[in-house]
Amino acid sequence: MKLEMEGRVAVVTGGGQGVGRGICLELAREGAFVAVNDLFEERAEAVAEEIRQQGGKALAVAADITAQDQVRAMFARIQAELGAPTILVNNAGIIPERREKGGKTPRFLDMPVEDWAKIVNLNVYGTMLCCRAALPAMAENRWGRIVNIISEAGRVGEANMAVYSGAKGAIAAFGKALAREHGRDGITVNAVALGAVSHEGIKDGPLHVDATPENNEVLAKLLSMYPIGKGAGRLARPDDVSAIVAFLASNRSLFITGQTVGASGGYAMV
Ligand SMILES: NC(=O)c1ccc[n+]([C@@H]2O[C@H](COP(=O)([O-])OP(=O)(O)OC[C@H]3O[C@@H](n4cnc5c(N)ncnc54)[C@H](O)[C@@H]3O)[C@@H](O)[C@H]2O)c1
Repeated sequence: MKLEMEGRVAVVTGGGQGVGRGICLELAREGAFVAVNDLFEERAEAVAEEIRQQGGKALAVAADITAQDQVRAMFARIQAELGAPTILVNNAGIIPERREKGGKTPRFLDMPVEDWAKIVNLNVYGTMLCCRAALPAMAENRWGRIVNIISEAGRVGEANMAVYSGAKGAIAAFGKALAREHGRDGITVNAVALGAVSHEGIKDGPLHVDATPENNEVLAKLLSMYPIGKGAGRLARPDDVSAIVAFLASNRSLFITGQTVGASGGYAMV
């Protein structure tokens, strides 16, 4: 299937590693010009360079997406250097601090109130700011695709991830509202819900790329929650997610809007 993405300008937030990097590479392979955003310039630049090495066109745009002035400046630069972005993948997100309490995330009542803001700011406010910046040009072009990367925690709730679950659920609902407001402009807004995704940015534990059910007991337990993971003997990787994102970001998915697609190997069937 041809995704008809050649020459479209895409912005991927948090594209400097992990899931976001996988999405950047996939969109570039499909012919999109990719603005790789990350908080860290060197991460964004490394992925942009990887795309160029593979013959694609990319621009590294470092910015903190929770800061409105930086988001505005980033979109202005993308418009000037690549053209009007009509694809936005809101990928940058943060999960609760795992190092506390011996690697476990805290229960809601044990989580300091000061820690809520970090999670809500990036997952919710950052996504909203990027949508605010991207929508006018999409509406003017009468074509746009917004794909929000959420978590199955945002659909079914996850113990010890209460604030994160709420933040991701908020974005699923926010996206549905935008889908209703902007369908008339030819803009679709969808979410992709992930379960655990193993990638090169995760330094240890069951999500480390070298973890196997044989050498990591926690991974063995984790896999029992993923029907496809059980069969494959592994968790999802960025490539398992990026193909779905690319389809939702393409011309071929026009009649899919306001939806949440689970890409979690059957972790949640809702
Ligand atoms: N990896 C998983 O198991 C998993 C599971 C469910 C959902 N998700 C979701 O998938 C998305 C990507 O996850 P990941 O594991 O690749 O994350 P990651 O933490 O490995 O990478 C996120 C990237 O975002 C960047 N970033 C952080 N704050 C930023 C900011 N303020 N502005 C711009 N960039 C910023 C980071 O520098 C980093 O490069 C997130 O939304 C996450 O919630 C991941």
